Amino acid sequence: MLEKLEETKQAGMSSLLEINDEDALSQWKVSHIGRSSAIMDVFKNMNEVPKEERGAVGRAANEVKQALEAAFTEKTAALREVALQHSLSEERLDVTLPGRALSRGRLHPVTQTLREIYRVFADMGFQVYRSREVETDEYNFQLLNFPPNHPAREMQDSFYVQTEDERGDNPILLRTHTSPGQIRAMREYSGENPDDPPPVRIILPGMCYRYEQVSARSETQFTQVEGLAVGHKITFSDLKGTLSDFARRMFGQDVRTRFRASHFPFTEPSAEMDVECFLCGGEGCSVCKGTGWLEILGCGMVHPVVLENGGYDPECYTGFAFGMGPERITMLRHRIEDIRYFWANDLRFLEQF
Ligand code: PHE
Repeated sequence: MLEKLEETKQAGMSSLLEINDEDALSQWKVSHIGRSSAIMDVFKNMNEVPKEERGAVGRAANEVKQALEAAFTEKTAALREVALQHSLSEERLDVTLPGRALSRGRLHPVTQTLREIYRVFADMGFQVYRSREVETDEYNFQLLNFPPNHPAREMQDSFYVQTEDERGDNPILLRTHTSPGQIRAMREYSGENPDDPPPVRIILPGMCYRYEQVSARSETQFTQVEGLAVGHKITFSDLKGTLSDFARRMFGQDVRTRFRASHFPFTEPSAEMDVECFLCGGEGCSVCKGTGWLEILGCGMVHPVVLENGGYDPECYTGFAFGMGPERITMLRHRIEDIRYFWANDLRFLEQF
């Protein structure tokens, strides 16, 4: 019996020597010191050992068991040490290697222009007013003084969402300009106090849609920034002063502006503002087509009918409005020659800004 115990010990010890990974070690544990290992069997079958030998066998079995357990613990520690040394040498961090550059996102060029416009007008006391992109014919045209067959309506061919409504004359469409927001804003402001409506000083930015042949110069979607100021004794010289100041803050302190007569149904009188070409300083280049001037926006005094439709009595109130295209301003600034780049999502284009 004692010999058999010695054999069990030797067998355990020698197979342990050959082990060099954790899986094999846990298997070894099961078969050499586990519940159904040879050594544990000795304890289980102790009653079969003749009484007079039990003391000696028991002691010897205990020694074998302890020896095997101690060897196991030692082996476990040894394997851990090997694994640690291995990972220390294999996974060594070379701090002299060059780092990988983070790729940083950036703002869309039109968003950058929009934010500059917001900043300039915020400094002049204008608040941002957000209006809807899906409009009715009534707001997009009728309340802005476009008569049903006005030629300007053809100019703005629209995307219709729904061509018929209960009334039959008020289809739903995607706004073709930000001007319907003028009516919505004035109605909201005047609704607060119909007898003495508060002054308005807002800009209305947002996406507009026109059903147009896409080309280098026109897209079916584009942003606009509308402006509206309504109050007592607002004059055309307030319009000129505000917009010239805007141009200087936006394009440079020395930039000159000029106003040319124009026509919009919702303003009277109407004008277009040009700024001196900021690329050639007015000398004439390909961007300003040799004229020295760049057309930047449409503007005018709010038409009395529009004031009335907004809940402002044209006898007591006057106002001015303007509308500009951030894509166009961005194109002029960066000499971008094709408006289609803006919404084509080509990173090679967007990464340049
Ligand atoms: N809504 C006009 C357009 O889309 C621009 C404009 C706005 C003109 C306000 C005058 C006043 O062309």
